[in-house]
Amino acid sequence: MNRIEGRVKVTGLATYAAEYPVEGVTYCYPVQSHIAKGRVKRVDGGPALELPGVLAVLSCDDPPPLGEGAEGELALFQSRDVAYRGQLVAAVVADTYENARAAAAAVRVEYDPDDHDVRLSADHPGLYKPEVVNPGFPTDTGHGDVEAGLARAAATVDVTYTTPVLHNNPMEPHASLAVWDEEGGLLVYDGSQGTSSGRDAIARTLGLDPGSVRVVSRHVGGGFGSKGTTRPQAVLAALAARAVGRPVKIALTRQQMFDVTGYRTPTIQRLRLGADAAGRLTALEHVAYEQSSTLVEFAEQTAVPARAMYATPALRTAHRLVRLNVATPSWMRAPGECPGMYALESAMDELAYAAGIDPVELRIVNDPGTEPGTGLPFSSRHLVACLREGARRFGWDERDPEPGVRREGEWLIGSGVASSTYPARRSPCKAVASLRGDGDVRVEVAATDIGTGARTVLTRIAADTLGVPPERVHLELGDSALPDAPVAGGSMGTASWGSAVVRACEELRRDGRTGRADTTEEVKADAKLARHAFGAQFAEVRVSAVTGEVRVPRLLGVFAAGHIVDAKLARSQFLGGMTMGLGMALMEETVTDEEFGGFLHRDLAQYHVPACADAGGVEAYWLEERDGELNPMGSKGIGEIGIVGTAAAIGNAVYHATGHRVRDLPLTPAKIL
Ligand code: MOS
Repeated sequence: MNRIEGRVKVTGLATYAAEYPVEGVTYCYPVQSHIAKGRVKRVDGGPALELPGVLAVLSCDDPPPLGEGAEGELALFQSRDVAYRGQLVAAVVADTYENARAAAAAVRVEYDPDDHDVRLSADHPGLYKPEVVNPGFPTDTGHGDVEAGLARAAATVDVTYTTPVLHNNPMEPHASLAVWDEEGGLLVYDGSQGTSSGRDAIARTLGLDPGSVRVVSRHVGGGFGSKGTTRPQAVLAALAARAVGRPVKIALTRQQMFDVTGYRTPTIQRLRLGADAAGRLTALEHVAYEQSSTLVEFAEQTAVPARAMYATPALRTAHRLVRLNVATPSWMRAPGECPGMYALESAMDELAYAAGIDPVELRIVNDPGTEPGTGLPFSSRHLVACLREGARRFGWDERDPEPGVRREGEWLIGSGVASSTYPARRSPCKAVASLRGDGDVRVEVAATDIGTGARTVLTRIAADTLGVPPERVHLELGDSALPDAPVAGGSMGTASWGSAVVRACEELRRDGRTGRADTTEEVKADAKLARHAFGAQFAEVRVSAVTGEVRVPRLLGVFAAGHIVDAKLARSQFLGGMTMGLGMALMEETVTDEEFGGFLHRDLAQYHVPACADAGGVEAYWLEERDGELNPMGSKGIGEIGIVGTAAAIGNAVYHATGHRVRDLPLTPAKIL
């Protein structure tokens, strides 16, 4: 299907959070900490208040009352302690955006600075073992004897891979518009990935009844995880609006986004692998080192995918975390799986060379019968079929494994492969389907379309269930006033919302007027199985022997992700994920400022994302996979698997081209030469 909102988006008629016309609106501009650690001694808003149009200055000098549930990055101005450079320490409200911005620069903040520590290392004295890693997995797991497995291996690798801080850069910067009504009800137009969860987070933070808060996110210009949790600007808009008694709008700048909307933790990952003469793993150990802030423990599940990938008699995975004077990391497309599989799939390539085995074959011989970490049966697993189909389409059989020997002029040529995986989960969701007066069907669900095509795919799911043309279905989403739905995240939007939409439509068919669904019991009754999507990615690269520049003329992915509900929408998701993986491989990086704290890369001039010219031929295919253990659609999520493995496939191709292994992302020219 074509996207239902395509026309309003490309004609500029789609309304985003900052664009709602509201009577009497005012503007808020934040003041950010200049120090990375210490205390705010005094905030002098006097000079700002004398400037034209200024209505209020908010800060920790006069903490606005918040609810008992206010915590972490959302507990604005409650403490004088500074947790990181760039943290919001004050804010100005004025009649125009320009006046607010000018006045924010006039707010004088005095600090008591302290020595800061913003550098992650694998021998940091502050490293500790968190209780669990996201979203609740055991921190360390293992079975068998890794040392014995390595000792008897015919080939081993012991390598450390590092990945940098990465930032989500959705096209629509984060924005919120808060409007209080006379009864104390709060309406927030928010650029968010979830309105039900956003309503609850805002209510908890402000100490309000969730019934008096409404969050609207009808159109969202991308999120990738950075809008998956309520960000500080939404709470700040509400506080500011309460302070001045008028609606308040906040549109973060791109530079402010780098500070307060989360980022992908940097990682240091040590992989120790052993294989026998036939390439069968004798041991697999994956240890990940990551960071969080002093405010909140955010422990990314980096080594968790290693528990699902390959059969081995000895498996050990572990995570260690250190709390630094940095902003709290957050979700970024395939948090955990993406950096974890980069390191694992790169190390598997090294093992293939060490063992003298084709890297596709190495993955095939180690395909497990049950999930290695848990022993659970897979609901379906077609990684081997993806590898074979990808190899066939890519022309892998003609490949000479010898690294560093193909050259056309200045260009060294190589190819690489990596596996992809992502969990296939679903969450409880509600939906209502009803017959309208004109005979068409209204479907209501508080899902969010962050650019994935959720509105369109849910319309199709409803139409298919009812046996009516999609034009007769009118889907309403993006509003917490609609039936409660989980966040657009974890690649479980379609599975969760779709399940409720199917059940509501089935009920409508029985009832004739209205169908209401709540899938809580259905989801609870799901059998205990290992549910994952899988894929195989192949990359061809050309590396300039003169400049070290890497070009990617061809990226090819084959995925097994259950039933693909809509081919056009799915293809966009896979291509988007793979292109984002290309950015991760070659250009994306945020450098931490060790001297002053905060980040050195803070806009799109410095933080490079792929442009169309960087993405050469990107091809996405899928197998028609039947899996009856998922949801009524038989679908697995596809939002995140596309980015998983891409960077490893490209890195492995760069090795094949140059004979030189770079174990630190991104693969910039200086590291290649
Ligand atoms: Mo996605 S990182 O689960 O929003």
